[in-house]
Amino acid sequence: MSALTIQANDISIEKAAQLIRAGGLVAFPTETVYGLGANALNAAAVAKIFEAKGRPEFNPLITHFLSAEDVEAHAVMSEEAQKLAHNFWPGALTMILPRKSDSEISDLVSAGLPTIAVRVPAHKTARLLLKQAGVPIAAPSANASGKISPTAPAHVAESIGENIELILADGVCEIGLESTVIDLTAKTPVILRPGSVTPEQISDVMGQEIFVDDATKIRNPKSPGQVLKHYAPSRPMRLDIRELHRGEALLAFGSIKFIGVKGGGAAKDLPEEMVRNLSEKGDLYEAASNLFSMLRELDQKKYKAIAAMQIPDEGIGMAINDRLRRAAEK
Ligand code: TXA
Ligand code: MG
Repeated sequence: MSALTIQANDISIEKAAQLIRAGGLVAFPTETVYGLGANALNAAAVAKIFEAKGRPEFNPLITHFLSAEDVEAHAVMSEEAQKLAHNFWPGALTMILPRKSDSEISDLVSAGLPTIAVRVPAHKTARLLLKQAGVPIAAPSANASGKISPTAPAHVAESIGENIELILADGVCEIGLESTVIDLTAKTPVILRPGSVTPEQISDVMGQEIFVDDATKIRNPKSPGQVLKHYAPSRPMRLDIRELHRGEALLAFGSIKFIGVKGGGAAKDLPEEMVRNLSEKGDLYEAASNLFSMLRELDQKKYKAIAAMQIPDEGIGMAINDRLRRAAEK
């Protein structure tokens, strides 16, 4: 089998919705990254996701809904959860909530945990798909397990196209980084995965300090997706570089005027193909949206490694650094 890629429109979205209802897999766009979707109520369909990604079964999935009201049928929404929903949904925020005991969402989605990850996406095509399908859609990022998340339809085709039926194509994802994951099931809320919704924004809404579990320091991750080796290019990576080594490709941020090459030379004189700039003007949002596609472009055997310049560790920059540290993990 090899996936059919079709441009999203009313007809193709209806076809995709039918496929979801019938227990099939559909890759679809969200504002963060492309997801690989299945009917969350159908265990056999959900099992196909794990197979298509080659993902360890203990790793639970995010379930996507059309609205917070739809979420409430399956998860317990505290006052805090309601507040966050009100402020950030639809959008790039995933909440881990206690699962309702009578929820018919497949246990496989939660990987047996008493909790469930829920998100109401904002992307127009994702919303139409959810509406037409009429069921919650479980969807991890549509890439092979442990590889870079897809921000364009071609990335999906390349990574797991052989294993799925349909790719609903709708251009490049606006945000380009996976959603912020916040766990609301502990005594104090904890961000398990940084994203475009920042700890500061969440703190403002909740009126309390929000902790970020730094996945790069945790030995016993609570969220299985916190395992370090996750967003991995096949080339080794070097971070926070001030100087480039020979044979390395450069992942730049801002001006490269002062980046030299060890042994002589300057980065600005390298062939164009060896350099990708996440954002020449130093805009962190632009950098986030370019991160995964540029990592892919530089991930070539002919380079010894990918060397990344320093990214300011603030706002969405924290999320970028989180992905870079994971990518650099051996
Ligand atoms: O932007 C996104 O979040 C994309 C789009 C498609 O929605 N999805 C995505 O899914 O990135 P995935 O499966 O690649 O990452 C989901 C993360 C994983 O780290 C997983 O371990 C964690 O959420 N997760 C899911 N359910 C959980 C639960 N019940 N408790 C703790 N962590 C959970
Ligand atoms: Mg993923």
